[in-house]
Amino acid sequence: MVGKFVGVGVGPGDPDLITVKAIKTLKTADVICIPKSHSNKPSMALGMVKQILKERHPPPEMLELVFPMTKNELSLRKLWAENAKIVAGKVRTGKTLVFITLGDPMLYSTFMYLYRKIKKDYPDIRLEIIPGVTSVTAAAASAQLPLAERDEVVSIIPSDLNVELLKETAKHADTLVFMKCAHRVKDLLHILKEAGFTENSTIALVKRCTLPEEKVLTGKLCDLLKWDVTADYFSVAILKRSEFLTNKKVDT
Ligand SMILES: C[S@@+](CC[C@H](N)C(=O)[O-])C[C@H]1O[C@@H](n2cnc3c(N)ncnc32)[C@H](O)[C@@H]1O
Repeated sequence: MVGKFVGVGVGPGDPDLITVKAIKTLKTADVICIPKSHSNKPSMALGMVKQILKERHPPPEMLELVFPMTKNELSLRKLWAENAKIVAGKVRTGKTLVFITLGDPMLYSTFMYLYRKIKKDYPDIRLEIIPGVTSVTAAAASAQLPLAERDEVVSIIPSDLNVELLKETAKHADTLVFMKCAHRVKDLLHILKEAGFTENSTIALVKRCTLPEEKVLTGKLCDLLKWDVTADYFSVAILKRSEFLTNKKVDT
């Protein structure tokens, strides 16, 4: 009886974008680990897989793991250690635990913290990762804007990146992808221009991509100021140095 801990990417939102391997794993796992930023908050990842889990009789055990959005390293470390202990304890009884995560587990996911802690403190635990469709590639598909062609360089920028580092990174990239509150790109226009992007550079802002409420705005960098870019954590912006023919889907 050997258990394992599996990180499963469940894609960007549309349940049809969950991989066959992820579905197979969700159908057989003993325990589904649900990461939450707060115990009262609903889990978006769980919402995406609920249909798959509904068809299971008896249902799998559900294990909520709370990871608050804090930058306090000390309390985070304590939480990772506590959660890793719970997971390791269950795996050692022979169970397979599946940790569901939005998009892909290896891209800005809470899964990685737990994965690292378990790997270090419980080296006997078998670990597996099932990749998922990321919000980056899903946003590019929704906006119908290629991320890279030929020898182009793509950089992914988290919203809280230091401005100087952002400028330096932007100088060397053909495409910039903004994640975690991508609406912030509106405040960065002067920096992007200093880094060589122009009024005619192509931009897409995709909110809640692949979900029924998805919103896609595409145009030129100079259009950005006219857009109603309201804050939404679930948004990705793609900025291309070059001009690219877009569908001009401006539905603010
Ligand atoms: C903590 S990161 C998780 C990224 C995820 N692991 C992935 O592979 O896409 C959260 C950020 O991903 C992006 N994101 C995730 N799902 C999204 C969606 N459906 N639409 C737009 N952006 C999304 C947003 O930029 C959000 O702030």
